[in-house]
Amino acid sequence: MPDNRQKVAQLFPRASEVPKEHDVGFYEDGDRWLVDGEIRRFGGALVEVESPVCIRGEDGSLERKKIGAHAALGADEAKLALDSAVRAYGDGRGEWPTMSVARRLERLRAFADGMRAKREIVVKLLMWEIGKSLEDSQKEFDRTHEYIKDTIEALRDLDRQNSRFAIDKGVIAQIRRAPLGVALCMGPFNYPLNEAYTTLIPALAMGNTVVTKLPRFGMLSNLPLLEAFRDSFPRGVVNVLNGDGKTLIGPIMTSGKIDVLAFIGAAKTGDTIKKQHPFPHRLRSIMGLDAKNPAIVLEDADLDLAVRECVKGTLSFNGQRCTALKLLLVNEKVAERFVARFVEEVEKLPCGMPWERVSLTPLPEPGKVERLQALVADATKKGARVVNPSGGASNATFYFPSVVFPVTKAMELYHVEQFGPIVPIATFQDLEEVFAHAVASPYGQQASVFGRNPKVLGPLLDVLVNQVCRVNLNAQCQRGPDSFPFTGRKDSAEATLSVTDALRCFSIRSMVAASYDDYGKQVLGDLVMSRESRFLRTDFLF
Ligand code: G3H
Repeated sequence: MPDNRQKVAQLFPRASEVPKEHDVGFYEDGDRWLVDGEIRRFGGALVEVESPVCIRGEDGSLERKKIGAHAALGADEAKLALDSAVRAYGDGRGEWPTMSVARRLERLRAFADGMRAKREIVVKLLMWEIGKSLEDSQKEFDRTHEYIKDTIEALRDLDRQNSRFAIDKGVIAQIRRAPLGVALCMGPFNYPLNEAYTTLIPALAMGNTVVTKLPRFGMLSNLPLLEAFRDSFPRGVVNVLNGDGKTLIGPIMTSGKIDVLAFIGAAKTGDTIKKQHPFPHRLRSIMGLDAKNPAIVLEDADLDLAVRECVKGTLSFNGQRCTALKLLLVNEKVAERFVARFVEEVEKLPCGMPWERVSLTPLPEPGKVERLQALVADATKKGARVVNPSGGASNATFYFPSVVFPVTKAMELYHVEQFGPIVPIATFQDLEEVFAHAVASPYGQQASVFGRNPKVLGPLLDVLVNQVCRVNLNAQCQRGPDSFPFTGRKDSAEATLSVTDALRCFSIRSMVAASYDDYGKQVLGDLVMSRESRFLRTDFLF
């Protein structure tokens, strides 16, 4: 079996070894932000952006490559951004919230086209800023672009459906979805584009105005899109902030002027932000939070398939996905065979730089390697072993996955969301242990189940579907396809996202109703014919 330690020790390139076509250089425009329809340069303090990719010096030393600097905006800028979004909403009378759906769709299309033109630089920045592989960075960009296109289609359908009048019990009404107000959207560092845009785009589509705070890592990756935002939407509809979350978010939330909070990240942070709003009943929250999705490998599982899916599920993007499998629960009768095959596959995973054809890449969070080491140390102290030869081999920002076995409830790894390349494997004898685990877990996003006997699978699925929101049969956990609901129970989520669900989340049903009698019909008919109202209408293409 290969031992990757040598490879890990020599992982990082010299400056001259970085292929020209993939080199990002130093991104000079990191100090820009978008407010009130203007891209401004920040005159104040900047924060250097260090890539997880290190460069090897002549003396063998490693240094994280500096790829730019972003603005460390403060409370004043946060207030300007908020005021700009509030003005653009204009208490629901602004240009954007009252714009016809057809025109809003045109603007979204213009944004999608403007975004497309920036694919190359965004993909490059994603690779260098968060260490995501070239292939996955391209996928993130393309998937986001497709999400916008799908949102446009979904909104068109919604508008078509809502253009009909409903008649019931002597009342005639046109029921549409109307915007909520000003949205604050925040995505996480692991999908700095996709996760933010799957809230920001539907928020805009429904006529809300938006302030977005870019994630801790991945700020630069978003900046090439500022022009597309500025040029596609009316002044103040989109405002983009860069900097420290604690500094920026407090003044925005405590103002009480945010109507929708879309936050993807840690539950603790989400709770803190939400509590800052002085009128909780006025705030709608849409959140993707913590998760520790388990894979349950049954006695009769196709072990090759289970191993293949669990390797992808635990280690795609180094395990830095909210949907990653973060605990493998394996029937003790097959555990030995499963672990042996799993280890074999993990050891074959290629590691290297994001632009190479590799699966494992450096990690962006400072101190992450040390935190992973501490989790493994806790487990080994309590009786587990790192069972793969290269497990835990590290070099600066890189950590080769540790497969840790057997993990028990006494160990931190059994409970905490590692969000990185550690695979904890525990065993079970009886399915009651699995049920008890699912019920006791504070997380409720997804689970994977590997097996085929309906007599075992049936009751297991029936327990799991009431503890999580997606059970993946003989497959890893994942968010996609984006037409499917993405949500969770307990500490894992609030509200549901999918292309169509998100349009609902960022809007509220509002209607115009009248008596279904001659007078009511006459007044409604005149209104529709006059085209004086953008809300009340039966056509959707003006
Ligand atoms: O980090 C959470 C993402 O929404 C996961 O998406 O399952 O497509 O990687 P994914």
